[in-house]
Amino acid sequence: MSVSDLQAIILAAGKGTRMYSTLPKVLHTICGRSLLWKALATVAHYKPRKIVVVVGYGEELVRAEVERFAKSLTDPIKIECVTQSEQRGTGHAVQTALSALDPSPGNILILPGDLPLLTGGTLLPLFSAETPPAKLHILSCDVPDPTGFGRIVREEDGTVLAIVEEKDCSEEERDISEINSGIYLLERELLNESIQSLQPNNAQKELYLTDIVEFSVDAEQPVEAVIAPDCYPLLGANTRLELASLERMRRDEMVSEYMLAGVSFEDPSAVYIDEGILIGRDCFIGAGTRLLGATTIGSGVIIDGQSRILNSTIGASCYIKLNCVITSSSLGEDCSVGPFAHLRPGSRLERRVHIGNFVETKKTELGEGAKANHLTYLGDSVIGANANVGAGTITCNYDGFNKHLTEIGEGAFIGSNSSLVAPVKIGARAIVGAGSVITKDVAEDALAVERSEVRTLPEWAKNFRARHKKSVS
Ligand code: UD1
Ligand code: CA
Repeated sequence: MSVSDLQAIILAAGKGTRMYSTLPKVLHTICGRSLLWKALATVAHYKPRKIVVVVGYGEELVRAEVERFAKSLTDPIKIECVTQSEQRGTGHAVQTALSALDPSPGNILILPGDLPLLTGGTLLPLFSAETPPAKLHILSCDVPDPTGFGRIVREEDGTVLAIVEEKDCSEEERDISEINSGIYLLERELLNESIQSLQPNNAQKELYLTDIVEFSVDAEQPVEAVIAPDCYPLLGANTRLELASLERMRRDEMVSEYMLAGVSFEDPSAVYIDEGILIGRDCFIGAGTRLLGATTIGSGVIIDGQSRILNSTIGASCYIKLNCVITSSSLGEDCSVGPFAHLRPGSRLERRVHIGNFVETKKTELGEGAKANHLTYLGDSVIGANANVGAGTITCNYDGFNKHLTEIGEGAFIGSNSSLVAPVKIGARAIVGAGSVITKDVAEDALAVERSEVRTLPEWAKNFRARHKKSVS
């Protein structure tokens, strides 16, 4: 089929009853991407003039996802949502979409919005089918278990006659293993004519899109069902159980690709990685690691495991020790983080920064080589290069109403168990004595110490113990 002037319709109005969810089925995710996103990305691959998405159940949420997708495109595509208020079947959904298409003859691609493993490549057989010169192409597939799918009914010579839904199948038809994927490519004119002919005379009393096949055959318009070489990307998920098993398949596939590109996994079956994450060569990913959202991992990074990294950039050669949570943050090269560290949104680490155990950072910049190795909270702060933040340091950034800034200059040394009450500035190379509560700015190179004198009472402890012993005996 020579494909010119392509437009697409994505069917996404259904609830997905068997998910038992308030979330529309098309918004359930697989490796971090919604099913709808997958359908949109698949279609976008072919650069159509326009995409029409049929929405219905949970339409505000579905429209918002469409918007997010549209915004993510560097090469914009016209996308419009139309509402199908009552879900009267796939044929009715397409009828609803028709008026939103641009008025040009061309070809229309129709696909369901609920195929979790769909990619641009999946549709290739549909676009590369050459003979015979059909006006309607269906992507079909030979499966070991056709339960639940529409069956492709062919004449003995192979000519396609109809698609029959399982509920309407005769005994004989039920045995057919060639199924309808729900993806079609057809000429606009044929769609216009055939879609008006639909009648709800079937077991489900719906308008079936699949009935356009019989219409075309009756109108002597050639129909071709192109058998996909691989049925795996055409599998749908009706339940959460099926979705989880498809996700596992997709994850295995992704992890295999990473391994073949030079990434090692402690246990390839025990990592959770979202679609589209870049991981550099010679990384080691420990068991229980979650790499989510828009995350990038530079080359030579070691992640011990049990960490969750979301929307973050990890520079080359960083070492993420066990049990860290890193969200919307960036790490320069050669940083070391954890074990048990929490980098909250807006944490920016330059090169060679060390963040140790039980350290929490938020909206905080640490200059090259700065260290905060133990039990510390750094919020709304800017910390200069090579500064050393001692154990138990707290930036008191919140006064109950507003957040304030703490600045620590280059090479400054903050003694253990200090509280820095913001807004406050510690000058470059200054030293804060351990245990101080700092409420005023400290000049460069100064020592600030806030602490009462130590009282020592000689022999007091010994006498105390002696008294205590007597009273017991
Ligand atoms: C459909 C096909 C079946 C095919 C199967 C492949 C029909 C009649 N049957 O069946 O031949 O084997 O897909 O997966 O087309 N939708 C709407 N509005 C509606 C009804 C559905 O937008 O009124 C959307 C759903 O949200 C879903 C898609 O259309 O994304 C497919 O609908 P679904 O009910 O899952 O169709 P199947 O019964 O699976
Ligand atoms: Ca389905």
